[in-house]
Amino acid sequence: MSTEPLVIFTPSGKRGHFPAGTPILTAARQLGVDLDSVCGGRGICSKCQITPSFGEFSKHGVTVQEDAISEWNSVEQRYKDKRGLIDGRRLGCQATVQGDIVIDVPPESQVHRQVVRKAASDRTITMDPATHLYYVEVDEPDMHEPTGDLERLERALQEQWEIGSITADLKILTRLQTVLRKGKWTATVALHKSHKDDAHKVVEIWSGMTEDRIYGLAIDLGSTTIAAHLCDLRNGEVKASTGVMNPQIRFGEDLMSRVSYAMMNPGGDQEMTNAVRTAINGLTEAIATEAGIRPFQILETVFVCNPVMHHLLLGIDPVELGQAPFALATSESLALNARDLDLNVMNENAQVYILPCIAGHVGADAAAVALSEEPDKSEDLVLVVDVGTNAEILLGNKERVLACSSPTGPAFEGAQISSGQRAAPGAIERIEINPETKEPRFRVIGSDIWSDEDGFDAVIATTGITGICGSGIIEAVAEMRIAGLLDPKGLIGSAEQTGTSRSIPEGRTHSYVIHDGSAEGGPVITVTQGDIRAIQLAKSALYAGARLLMDEMGVDTVDRVVLAGAFGAHISTKHAMVLGMIPDAPLDKVTSAGNAAGTGARIALSNLGARVEIERIVREITKVETAIEPKFQEHFVNANAIPHATDPFPELAKITTLPDVSFNTGGSGGGDQGGRRRRRRG
Ligand code: FES
Repeated sequence: MSTEPLVIFTPSGKRGHFPAGTPILTAARQLGVDLDSVCGGRGICSKCQITPSFGEFSKHGVTVQEDAISEWNSVEQRYKDKRGLIDGRRLGCQATVQGDIVIDVPPESQVHRQVVRKAASDRTITMDPATHLYYVEVDEPDMHEPTGDLERLERALQEQWEIGSITADLKILTRLQTVLRKGKWTATVALHKSHKDDAHKVVEIWSGMTEDRIYGLAIDLGSTTIAAHLCDLRNGEVKASTGVMNPQIRFGEDLMSRVSYAMMNPGGDQEMTNAVRTAINGLTEAIATEAGIRPFQILETVFVCNPVMHHLLLGIDPVELGQAPFALATSESLALNARDLDLNVMNENAQVYILPCIAGHVGADAAAVALSEEPDKSEDLVLVVDVGTNAEILLGNKERVLACSSPTGPAFEGAQISSGQRAAPGAIERIEINPETKEPRFRVIGSDIWSDEDGFDAVIATTGITGICGSGIIEAVAEMRIAGLLDPKGLIGSAEQTGTSRSIPEGRTHSYVIHDGSAEGGPVITVTQGDIRAIQLAKSALYAGARLLMDEMGVDTVDRVVLAGAFGAHISTKHAMVLGMIPDAPLDKVTSAGNAAGTGARIALSNLGARVEIERIVREITKVETAIEPKFQEHFVNANAIPHATDPFPELAKITTLPDVSFNTGGSGGGDQGGRRRRRRG
């Protein structure tokens, strides 16, 4: 048995014997314990903080004496005076082992920190990003041994960090000499190395030890909304999340109208490329301001997007995606420089990773959903629907995963809805309608108080009540159906038929008034017959896509359903089922996962292994093409009724009874959806 002191690290449980005097950081490294260091043990970065524990630890079979760790030293004192250090914490590179000791590594000192994802199926993301910071001391130039500054930097990184070869763009080289001399031959370097690279690339350099943190953007580039998370590349923390409307909407609301715009207008593709790049630059500026950082600290960006958005972001004419056989320029993942995409607000050397596309209509966003929701690891048969202007749908289990996309249109994102709006403060996100009185009550984004509760007026004093967001419109239509204001064909009844004056005539049809703010100069928020039609078209496309995958899999039911989308709030699973957005399933088997594509982007930003994994999974997913599948049209027509014309919903019947009403008066807007042109590609 070793007579050398025993060092036990928690939470890893790793243990080993080390000679007295061994720095804790050295012991950690030798045992493979996850303890961070940017300065390489020089006592200036504070990333190696640990907490020694004293007393008796029967679990570990050791008793730790007060003198089991070296005394507080002047380097630690200097750091504490300058930057502060939590009481009880020590610098792992300064404190040395003196006796048997138990050392806790707090989460912020772990390089591969586990970030728990709040979602239906909680999972952790292990931090292993492509970009890291390293502090180095570089040899000064020597006339007798002539080498360049970059070569001496490379040598320093090799000697001090065991980094292999490095490369640096001209943008870095032009600054290198000044930065090194200003830092008196010390510098902090941000090195990027993705899973496909042989060498590390210098993407930023600071004189001396920097206090700057480095960040990455995870961007879900949708047809209607661009949603972004700004993440700390060291610990995965989301510093800010924001979204903007995709300005390409002015060229066409859905994908095919944008492809048509590119076909009909010479240079139209370039116009759309410029529009989206400008928007991403604006978004970068806004999210950096919100998080209180400087945009140059953003060193990486991961994009997930559907194939048309993918091509337009890259500056590739999407015309081939508008016609069979829907060929992509490339379906492989891409690693690029941000400046190649004119993304010039973030760091000029920032690196971009774009997830692989699954097929001509099933994009990198579907790949991101697969990464986030992991249908390929599921024991039971799971249907994952990511609702957006183009819905990504995955069905599968450990054996096999199928994927398709379905052109739902922008209604679920609040667009094409008369009172619709992006999910933002002031937007109605939850609605309930009393089936007896037909009176609504609602909640707006940014408040937990319902409109009929005390304090509501104060809560909305600054934002007002401005419209309905995607999750709100789903609830509104479903609640109208439950309350008997809407019949199975999707017709809104008149005041006479429904018994409420909130049902008002609008041309030959009717609308339901949710909120009348006109007395205060605010909007009148209604759900119109046109809104119902837009939602019916959207949900029919969604259901038909899911049904097509179920046909392909040879099943009539699924074990569970995951509903995701870039909504303001999580979708109410009950309301989604009342609407018939998804196939019938026990309600406790239907979960809402928030923005799964955005989460997938965040996982790929935080973990290089996830990039390898998704590139493999994408090759194994079976693609189903809705645009050329005749059965799609039949499923689409049947799915037009609320919840459905032919498919049974026995599980839904257990939780709610839908009134047997009919408002078809023979000319009031028509319940016939069969003749309506559905939004489809090609
Ligand atoms: S490793 Fe940097 S302060 Fe300890």
